[in-house]
Parts: sequence; C-alpha cells; structure tokens
Amino acid sequence: MRVAIVEGDGIGKEVIPAAVEVLDALDLPIEKVPLELGYGKWEKCGVAIDEKDLEILKSCDCVLFGAITTPTDPNYKSVLLTIRKELDMYANIRPIKPLPGLVGVTGKNDFDLVIVRENTEGMYSSIEEIHDDVAYTKRVVSRKGSERIARSACKLAKDRKNEITIVHKSNVLKSDTLFLGVCREVAASEGVEYRDMLVDAMAYSLMSYPERYDVVVTTNLFGDILSDMSAALVGSLGLVPSANIGDKYAFFEPVHGSAPDIAGKGIANPIAAILSMKMMLEWMGYEREAALVESAVEFSIKENITTPDLGGSSSTSDVGKLMADHIRNNL
Ligand code: IPM
Ligand code: MN
Repeated sequence: MRVAIVEGDGIGKEVIPAAVEVLDALDLPIEKVPLELGYGKWEKCGVAIDEKDLEILKSCDCVLFGAITTPTDPNYKSVLLTIRKELDMYANIRPIKPLPGLVGVTGKNDFDLVIVRENTEGMYSSIEEIHDDVAYTKRVVSRKGSERIARSACKLAKDRKNEITIVHKSNVLKSDTLFLGVCREVAASEGVEYRDMLVDAMAYSLMSYPERYDVVVTTNLFGDILSDMSAALVGSLGLVPSANIGDKYAFFEPVHGSAPDIAGKGIANPIAAILSMKMMLEWMGYEREAALVESAVEFSIKENITTPDLGGSSSTSDVGKLMADHIRNNL
C-alpha cells in the first residue's frame, strides 16, 4: 500500500506527525509518500496544488491528510475540494461516537451515529458567479450523486442497525425533493429502514437526542454543518475523524481545520487525526491493527495523558508517543 502523507497547514503539521508515529509503531508494510500541499505552498509558489501533485496522489492508494487553511479569497480554490472532486471521493463518512469516559455538551454518552455526507456536489458545485451587487451559487443534486451516497449509507447501515435517516430541506429546495426521493428508493430497494428529517429540525434533535440516530445521510453543506455541530456531542472537535471514500481512492482527515489560532503551540489534540488513520487501517483491511489504535486512544484518556481541550496538560506529541508505546507493548 502507498499512502500519501499530507500534513497541510497549521495544526496539520502537528497532528499528522503524531498519527504517523502511531502508524509506524504498527510496523505495517506501508509506503509513505510525503507531499506538501496547501496555503503554505500557495504563498510560496502561487499554487496550492498542481497537476503533478494530483498525479502523485493518484499514484497512491489513499491519503492521510491533516488540515489546510482555506482563505475566503474568491481566487483561491480549496485544495480539499479539488482533491475530493479529482479523486471522485463522493462519500464523506464521519463517525460521531463518544470515547469512554468523555461527554460533550449534552452530558450523554449512550449514542453512536455516523454522518454520511455527499462530497462532490450540492452547494459545493463550484458553479458560481460573483458580480458587484449579486452573487450566485448553483446547488446541484443529481440522481447519480444521490444514488451513490444513498448506497454508501445503506451499506454502512447493514453492518449496524439497518436504518438510515435522510436529512434534507425539501419543503423549500426542489433539489432536495430529488435527493429525498432517490434516497428513499435506494433504501427501499436495499431493504434498509428509512425515515427523513428536515435539516433544521434535525439540528435541534441531534443536539437533544443523539441516541435516536444511527446512520444519517445528507447533502454536502448540511453534512458539513451537522458534522461540526455534532463534534460538540463528543466533547471536542479534536476528536472527530473522517474518511472520504470513492470507488478507487480514499482520503482520511480529521473533521477539524488548520486552527491557526493554536498552531505551533503543541496543544492540538491529535486524536481526530489518529482515529482518521484508524479508519484508513480499516479501509485497508487491517481490522486488528485498527482495534489496537482505538485501544491506544482509550488508554491515553484513561491515563489522563490528554491535550488541554480535554482538560489535560500534555502536548500533541506526548499523546502520540504514549499511544505508540502502548501499541508496541501490545502488538
Ligand atoms: C470539512 C471542511 C471543508 C468543507 C472546507 C475546509 C473546504 O470544512 O472538511 O468539513 O467544507 O468540506
Ligand atoms: Mn467542515
């Protein structure tokens, strides 16, 4: 297996080395291909990602990615969106599962849900116009795009509770009438139970009753918003991993961004990056190793070796080191 390692910007440069240290402790036959992409590269060379980078990414099986600063400059095209589209990684899988002993804003920890976010269209179509007094963004929802994300959600649901919740805003958006219709058709044909929720009601319900949900499938921007919001359910944005999966490639990244405000201080929580690496191991078929990584994460919490967002006083690299040692001792 060849894995592109992209630290990116800000805290990406801290959390990915910690995740790689944990990965190295497993001693697996994985070839690491380091690649510099992002805002830092843009400042230096005027491009954040070029054709050659894309070729390198495509020569790898998957990518372990930190975070990239995306400025709100209309001339800057997000690297992340370019990669997701170019490698056609249409399913963004974001598990929202509390770690033992930790609670988030609701104080509950009896839930375990997964947000399945469509990753290539919707409000992220890039079909946009900006004029002096008006700007447009075209929201694209296709049958093909909806079908394949619905299938990903159903596949996941079959290994879980065999139910999905389709999140949409079809009372206002015609594009979501199509999304909802296609998701229902797919779920029915796959024999998966389904219900649907309007996104605004879902935001409230998820924050109040996360235990009611299992697999949640939605369009791109709604999934983006609901996933950051749901991070508050598990106690920190620094805990939530994600996998971007296509038919050929996959890309693993923490849900958090590059956090320039805390970058360079060594206090970023590496758990989201480490759990993203764990999702990568599962995708590769290394189930036992993935379980070991999860137990290392749980061990660090039990031992109180945590970063300040979880109330601890350890550094990013201390946490990585402890987990790597734990793995070596239990391999
Ligand atoms: C995410 C991020 C990205 C997104 C940004 C950085 C383009 O917020 O992965 O959730 O909106 O998808
Ligand atoms: Mn986001």
